[in-house]
Amino acid sequence: MTIVVETIAALRAQVRAWRAEGLKVALVPTMGALHDGHVSLMRAALERADRCVVSIFVNPRQFAPTEDLDKYPRQLALDLDRLEKAGVHLAFTPGVEEVYPQGFATSISVGGPSAELETDFRPAFFDGVATVVGKLFIQSEPDLAVFGEKDYQQLCVVKKLVQDLNLPLEIVGSPTIRDSEGLAMSSRNAYLSAQELEIARRLNKILRKAASALEGGADEAVTMAAARQDVLEAGFDAVDYVAARQSDTLAPWQRDTDGRVLVAARLGKTRLIDNVEISAS
Ligand code: PAF
Repeated sequence: MTIVVETIAALRAQVRAWRAEGLKVALVPTMGALHDGHVSLMRAALERADRCVVSIFVNPRQFAPTEDLDKYPRQLALDLDRLEKAGVHLAFTPGVEEVYPQGFATSISVGGPSAELETDFRPAFFDGVATVVGKLFIQSEPDLAVFGEKDYQQLCVVKKLVQDLNLPLEIVGSPTIRDSEGLAMSSRNAYLSAQELEIARRLNKILRKAASALEGGADEAVTMAAARQDVLEAGFDAVDYVAARQSDTLAPWQRDTDGRVLVAARLGKTRLIDNVEISAS
């Protein structure tokens, strides 16, 4: 039976009680609209810990005024059902006032891997993510927290936050879950029409082609330009970025090091991101 709590006090009391019994606690932060990708994060958490806490909170601070905060999918009853089936021990479902009470005036800004890529297009995004994730870590005091590799830059930013603030928890990155055609699971896939879904499914193949070209020694600028062209020819309306970066720092990629090809592209009203590994060996 999943315990559902809405207050920080109740969350803290339960996690502290578990830890006092010597149990290891994992946190999976989410914004709800749970899909198989989230369930894989919960599985990764349950493999490593005795208790799994999932937070469901659509964080207004990571949405720009022009973005989809109001229309972001909210389906708490369905989500709680999924948590129950996944064997999650506790759901933390705070309201906005619980997280950001009247007069809240603090923001966490992480440098390093937050530079460029998403930040060039969503300048306030990572401050919003770091602020809420930092609060969730302090509120729930977990031994570890699991984040998806799908939001690869976010994963790097969260790791940097934990490292720089000496927060006493481990950050675990969990591989992206894809449909049978390679489309990365995302809550925003729900916005895609049938025709857009077909186009979206080409994104991962294009990234894999680019990564294997780089692994095979192709010129980086030529490969990135070709990948951008491939994304547009697949039917996307615009490419925000397609770039090769080092996998740990997100600094410019160096040949013969592990890297990632990262992309953000727009399709109708939906913005999709994805990334694939560039293997050094
Ligand atoms: O990846 C997400 O769903 C969100 O950015 C997160 C980490 C839950 C913070 O709101």
